[in-house]
Formats: sequence, C-alpha cells, structure tokens
Amino acid sequence: MVELSPRLEQIGRMVAQGSVVADIGTDHGQLMAWLGERGILRAGYACDINKKPLDKARRILAELGLSDTVACVQAPGLEGLEPGSADTVVIAGMGGDLIARILDEAPWVREHRTRLLLQPMTKPDHLRDYLAREGFCTELENAVVSGKFVYTVFSVVYDGQSRTLTTLERYIGRVLDGDSADTDRYLMRVRRNLLGRIAGIDRSRAGDPERRGEYTAVVAELERLLKERGYDVDCLDAVWEAGRAGALPDPGEVG
Ligand SMILES: C[S@@+](CC[C@H](N)C(=O)[O-])C[C@H]1O[C@@H](n2cnc3c(N)ncnc32)[C@H](O)[C@@H]1O
Repeated sequence: MVELSPRLEQIGRMVAQGSVVADIGTDHGQLMAWLGERGILRAGYACDINKKPLDKARRILAELGLSDTVACVQAPGLEGLEPGSADTVVIAGMGGDLIARILDEAPWVREHRTRLLLQPMTKPDHLRDYLAREGFCTELENAVVSGKFVYTVFSVVYDGQSRTLTTLERYIGRVLDGDSADTDRYLMRVRRNLLGRIAGIDRSRAGDPERRGEYTAVVAELERLLKERGYDVDCLDAVWEAGRAGALPDPGEVG
C-alpha cells in the first residue's frame, strides 16, 4: 500500500467516499494512488503542469492497476479539465498566492459548488483573504504536523457570500473548528511567526506601529486561546521547541 506523509494523508482523509477528485499539482500522483488503493475514488484526474512528474505518476498509477480510474492530465491549474468534471478539487503543496490564482482562473468551481481541499505551504493568510472576499466559504481547517512543520488543510465550498475576516481569522482561519489533534501546534506556530515579525519591525529603522499593534493583539489572543486549552503561557516556547525536537508533550508536561 502507498504510504503518505501525515500532510498528504490528512488531505486524503478529508476526501469523501465515492468522489471524483482532481489533484492539481499531483507531482508523482501519490495522493491519487492512496485514494485509488483504498477504493475512495469513483474516478480521478492527476494533473500537473510539468511532464516529468506526470510521467512518473502515470507509471505509479499503472503499476497499481489504477490507469482506468485516474486520468493523467498535463496542464496548468484546472485548464485541462472539463467544467464540472470533478466534484472535489485538491490543490496542495503550493503557495497560498498560487492556489488563489489557480482558483481565480477556473470559474466553474464556483458554478458547480465544487468541494475544494486546499493546503498552502506559504501565505495561508493571503489565501484566506482571497477566499473570504470572493465568496468561498471555508467550513473548517484541519491542522496537521508533518515532520518539523505544521500545516492546515482547508475544506471550502463556494456560496457566493463575500465575507470580511477578523484579524484573528486571517491568521488562524477555521482551525478551531477542525477535528485535528494538531490544532494547538498550529496556534503555537502562528504565535512564533508573529513574534518573529514583531522582532523584525523592532529591528527596522522605519518601524511600523500599525502592523506591530495588529501582530501584538493577535499574539495576545493566541496566548489566551492556548491558556484556555491547558498551556502555561510562560512555557509556550519550551513546548514548541520540544515538539520540533520530535517529542510532542501534553500541555502540562513542560514547565
Ligand atoms: C511541491 S509539489 C506538491 C505535490 C503534491 N501536491 C503535494 O502536496 O505534495 C508542486 C507540484 O505542482 C506542480 N505545479 C506547479 N505549478 C502548477 C500549476 N500552475 N498547475 C499545475 N501544477 C503545477 C509542480 O510541477 C509540482 O509537481
């Protein structure tokens, strides 16, 4: 059986039984192979802009006897697909800005109310802003620790209602609504990230009091949430570092 990283497996577990899935930027088709082997796919499209990874995906899928279930499509974004041909579109392992651009170029995902499973490697705040503004509803996000990193996977559907996000929502989205055990790590990561940005502002000559104020307020809110979830706020950095080293302690274990 195909083994996936925890990141890709989290995405796989969010695909509904019997779906027709398009995996955009499939690389070697690992996710489609995993879904196909488990009988989750009714049909699928493994799509990639580049020939080389797609050739490898085609070989792997053929070895698993999945060539009739999964078609390999070489094209940018969703350009190689007929509108409405998939009920679920996965776009994972790319920057949040590229994911937004790919969605923008495929209006049919709105008309057909396609389920979108999105996993940005960078700029998740940019993607959240785009989705909210454009009328996509993010129903939940599931955080997932994979190696030394923590990501979120968005489950999204278009409902046409443009939304304005609160500042906290820009940074943590709907991660509190997911069913992930890794939510706390995501909150800690965002906190660390914002503390880094604050330190950067403090080092710069120009300063940026407005942004500094925004980041500081979000850090305070994250610390309040983590305290509510059982963490000693004074020990958050130690808990974070212990997790990076491989041991993920219980909230009460450090300090
Ligand atoms: C880092 S890999 C991610 C692979 C897999 N989706 C994952 O999450 O592990 C990015 C893949 O996206 C492909 N890619 C980059 N830009 C693309 C685009 N505009 N449309 C389709 N595929 C693209 C690349 O060729 C590469 O195979």
